[in-house]
Amino acid sequence: MKLKNTFAIASVTALLALSSCGNCGQEIVLNPYPNKIETHCGTFNAAGAAFSIDSAIDGEGVAVITGFAERLSEASGVESVIGDKGGFDFVLVPEMDAEAYSLKVTRKGVSVKASSSAGFRYAIQTIKQLLPVEIFAQGSSEGIKWSIPCVEIEDSPRFAYRGLHLDVARHFFTKEEVMKILDIMEVYKMNRLHWHLTDDQGWRIEIKKYPRLTEFGSIRKGTMIRKEWTNIDNVPYGGFYTQDEIREVVKYAESKGITIIPEIDLPGHMVAAMASYPELGCTGGPYDVRQIWGIADEVLCVGKESTFKFLEGVLDEVVELFPSEYIHIGGDECPKRSWEKCHACQAKIRELGLKDDEHYKAEHYLQSYVTKRMEDYLAAKGRKIIGWDEILEGELSPNATVMSWRGSAGGIKASKMGHDVIMTPNSHFYLDYYQAQNSEKEPFGIGGFIPVEKVYSYEPYTEDMDDAARSHILGIQANLWTEYIATPEHLEYMCFPRAAAVCEVQWTMPENKDWQRFSDGLDKTVRIYEVMGLNYAKTIFGVSTSAEVNPDKKCVDLTLTTQGGAEIRYTLDGSEPDASSMLYTSPLEIREGCTVKAKAIRENMETGIAEVEFTENRIIGRDIVLNTKPRDKYTYNAPYLLVDGLLGSNSYATGRWAGWRGTPVDVTISMDPGMKFSSVTLNALILKGEDIFNPLDLKVFTSEDGENFAELAAADYPVESASDPDGIKDYTLTFPETSTNYIKVTAQTVKSLPDWHGRHGRRGYCFVDEIIVK
Ligand code: ACM
Ligand code: ZN
Repeated sequence: MKLKNTFAIASVTALLALSSCGNCGQEIVLNPYPNKIETHCGTFNAAGAAFSIDSAIDGEGVAVITGFAERLSEASGVESVIGDKGGFDFVLVPEMDAEAYSLKVTRKGVSVKASSSAGFRYAIQTIKQLLPVEIFAQGSSEGIKWSIPCVEIEDSPRFAYRGLHLDVARHFFTKEEVMKILDIMEVYKMNRLHWHLTDDQGWRIEIKKYPRLTEFGSIRKGTMIRKEWTNIDNVPYGGFYTQDEIREVVKYAESKGITIIPEIDLPGHMVAAMASYPELGCTGGPYDVRQIWGIADEVLCVGKESTFKFLEGVLDEVVELFPSEYIHIGGDECPKRSWEKCHACQAKIRELGLKDDEHYKAEHYLQSYVTKRMEDYLAAKGRKIIGWDEILEGELSPNATVMSWRGSAGGIKASKMGHDVIMTPNSHFYLDYYQAQNSEKEPFGIGGFIPVEKVYSYEPYTEDMDDAARSHILGIQANLWTEYIATPEHLEYMCFPRAAAVCEVQWTMPENKDWQRFSDGLDKTVRIYEVMGLNYAKTIFGVSTSAEVNPDKKCVDLTLTTQGGAEIRYTLDGSEPDASSMLYTSPLEIREGCTVKAKAIRENMETGIAEVEFTENRIIGRDIVLNTKPRDKYTYNAPYLLVDGLLGSNSYATGRWAGWRGTPVDVTISMDPGMKFSSVTLNALILKGEDIFNPLDLKVFTSEDGENFAELAAADYPVESASDPDGIKDYTLTFPETSTNYIKVTAQTVKSLPDWHGRHGRRGYCFVDEIIVK
C-alpha cells in the first residue's frame, strides 16, 4: 500500500477520507510498525466509546487505560464511560509475553489483550497512532472524526532494551524538556532513558554528601565557541537538578513505562567533580570545570582510597534516587597519562601486581580494577553496571553490560564472550551527527553524516554471531550528545524524525521493516510532532542528491529524490527554483562546472533548496584508479570522489573527502587523448587537531601506455606549523600546455606528527576531495 503523492501532502480531511474509504486501501502509519498486522474494511468510532476493564488488570494497567479514556474524552469532547461494555474491551491474558499485546478493531468495538501494564500501554500507543493525530495534542479538537481503522494486530518487541540517551552535562536541559522527550519516547514504545548526568563540563545532579559538586561543579566559566578551541565566550554556564526534581522526573518516566538509567561517568570525564574537590585528581589541582569539548587528560586519581569513598558516597545517593536495575558508570575516553605520572596510582598498580602485557598496559588493567570495584559495590546493592565499550580494554568485569559506541565491533566481540550488549554505534545512532549531506545549511554541529535512512538500515546481528551471541544483544539505543546542542529546539531538530527510525530498529523484526513504507508515512509522523509541539528536521522532505561518476559517459549522473515522490523542480544557472522551473524526470548528466539548485514542491510544507555545486574540472567523470589505498574508514567512494566535481566542507567525515594515512596518495587517471591542460591541483583539508595535515609534496607524471610514466611537474611543501590556520587548501602545479593518455598524481603524507602536536610521532592523515585538471 504505497501512499500516493496527493495523499502524502494530505490535510486532515484527506487523511480522514483515506481511513473511511470503505475498502481495504486504508493507510496505516505506525512507528514502530507492528510485527503482525491485517487491515480490514471499515472503522470504529471511538468518540464516547465505553471502556470495559478486566478486574484482573493491576493498578498500573488500570491507570494506563483510564488515562487514555480521559484523554479521548477530552479530545473528542464526548465522555467515555468506564465500566460499560460495548466499546473498548481490555482483557488480561496472563499467558502472553510481558510486553506483547493484541488488538482487534472492528466496526463495533476494540478488543485489547495483554498480560501486563506494559502490553496495555503499547496497545494504547498503537491505538493512538491509529486515531487522528490530534489525540496527541492538548485539549479538545473540533470537527474531527475519531475513527480507528479496522485492524488486527499481534505485536511484541524485537528487543527488550529500547533506549534513548541524553547528555545534560555539556548543555543542560530543564526537567520540563526532559519530560517532553519522555512523552515522545512513550509514543515510540521506548523504555529506557540513559541520562548522562555528569561530565568534564558540568555536574548536574545534586549529591547531598558532596554539595560542592553542584555549587561549583555545575558551573563553567565559559564555553568554547563553535570549534574554535582557544576561543571562549567567557559567559558562565550552569544548571543542575535537585534531588526532588530528579525524583519528579523518575516518577514521570515511570508513568510512561520508562526506566531512567543514570550515568556517572568515571574515572575519566570527571573534571567537574575534580574542580569541586581537587583532591580527587592525581595532582591535587586546582582544576576548572572544562570549557572546551574533547577528552581531558585529567582523570580521577584511583591510587587513593579516598577517591573510592567519594564514588561510593555518590553512588549511595544515586541508587536511592533511581530504582533502575542498571547504573551506567561510563568508562569511556579515560587517558592514562596522569596515572602514569602519579605516585599513588603507580603504587596501586604495584600493590595489585598489574603488569603491561602484549594486549594492554598496566594502566588499562587499573581501569578494569576501578570498574570491577564499582560493579561489586553496586552488586551489593542489587544493581548491575553498564559501561561504554572501553571497559573491554584490560579485563572485562564479569557481569558488566557493554554499550558499544565506537561502531558495532566491540559489541559483537562482547556478545561472543557471553556479555550482555547494548548497541549504540556512532555509525548509525549518534543523533548529534548531521542528518544532511550539505552541513553548511544545518545548525552547527559536531560533524558526521547519519541521514534517517542510515539509522533505519541498522541490523545488529551479523552472520558470524551464533544464537548465543545474538541472545546477548539486549537492544539498541540512540544517543544525543550535546556539545554543540544548546537549546531544546536544536535538540528536537536532531532527534526527530530520526527517533522514528530508531524505534523501528528497536521494536520491529527485520522482515517487517520496509524503508519505502516507513518513508512514505513520514508525513503523518511529523504531524504528530507538530501537535506535540516538537521541532523536527525537514531535511528528508527536501531534495536529496546523489552523484555517481559514470566513466562510460564521461560525466557525473546526479540523481534527485525526495520523500513520498513529490515533484522536484531544478535550475542549473544558480537561480532559485520554483514551481515553474525545469521538472526533474531522470538523472542529470553533469560534464562541467555548474550549480544545481532543486526544490521539492509541496503544498503544505516549505522545504529548503538543495544545492550542488560542481567545480570546474576538465576530468569530471573520467576513469581513475587507486595505486594506494586510503584508510578503510575514510575511503568512501574513492577514487571516484576525486573526479566528481564535488568539493568537501570543513568536516572530514561527510563522504566528500578520502583520507590517506601511512601511505602516499597515488592515483592514475585516464585522460582524453588530445585534451590540452596546463595545471593539476590537489585539494586538501587541514585539521591539525584531528591529525589531518597537508601533503608534503605533489608530483604529476604522464604516460601514453598507462605503464611507463615520466615526471611532468613536482613541488615540496613544508609541514604545517601550529600557528598556520586550518582549512581547505589547494596545492597546484602549473606547466606548459600538454596532452597525454594518462596522468599519475602522487602526494606524500606526514609520517610523524611534529613535536608541538599532542600526538607527536604518530602518522598524519592527508584528506583529498578532488584532483582538478585545467
Ligand atoms: C562516547 O561517545 N564518548 C561514549
Ligand atoms: Zn593518581
